[in-house]
Amino acid sequence: MRFRPAVAADLPHLIDMLLEAYNWGGVERFTADQLASDDHAWRYVDGWPRAGEFGVVAEVDGRRAGAVWARLLPEDRPGYGYVADDVPELSIGVLPEFRGQGVGRALLDEVIAAARNAGYKRLSLSVEPENRAAGLYRSLGFEVAGRNGGSDTMVLAL
Ligand SMILES: CC(C)(COP(=O)(O)OP(=O)(O)OC[C@H]1O[C@@H](n2cnc3c(N)ncnc32)[C@H](O)[C@@H]1OP(=O)(O)O)[C@@H](O)C(=O)NCCC(=O)NCCS
Repeated sequence: MRFRPAVAADLPHLIDMLLEAYNWGGVERFTADQLASDDHAWRYVDGWPRAGEFGVVAEVDGRRAGAVWARLLPEDRPGYGYVADDVPELSIGVLPEFRGQGVGRALLDEVIAAARNAGYKRLSLSVEPENRAAGLYRSLGFEVAGRNGGSDTMVLAL
């Protein structure tokens, strides 16, 4: 297992992982085509990476196994987990065959360290409380800071 910064060439993988995040419950909410034509969903990958954005890719035997990435979505085009313009919002996905082996936790550890190094004070994300990922976030120190539709906005103070 290798972890490295997410770069522009990782965009197709980020799109795949965003699809995993939207379809987390085993129900297909979005096809790849629907994701690409949904303005709110697409902003999580559109133009990746912009200034100040960062992410981490996990590789197993040279193959991408998952990714986490942080976007600086502005107030006038926010993500579901928007808190402030200077609080990057995370998205994360791990390919089904690599789940439950610590990849997601390790990706989050890496991206939290990257955020600290970059001088950010907080990270945010949006998660449906039924998603087991919420427990993972809590165990890393994220706390619920608000609600947007059926999802919790969680924030980690760095
Ligand atoms: C959420 C996700 C990224 C976690 O990645 P992962 O590699 O499976 O996570 P880990 O193996 O590091 O497990 C981390 C912890 O989360 C728990 N967990 C999270 N999702 C789980 C699941 N689907 N099944 C079982 N345990 C899960 C584990 O108990 C584990 O706890 P532990 O470290 O104390 O043992 C991955 O399940 C995933 O891609 N899910 C679909 C996309 C998604 O939901 N993204 C987040 C949207 S907010």
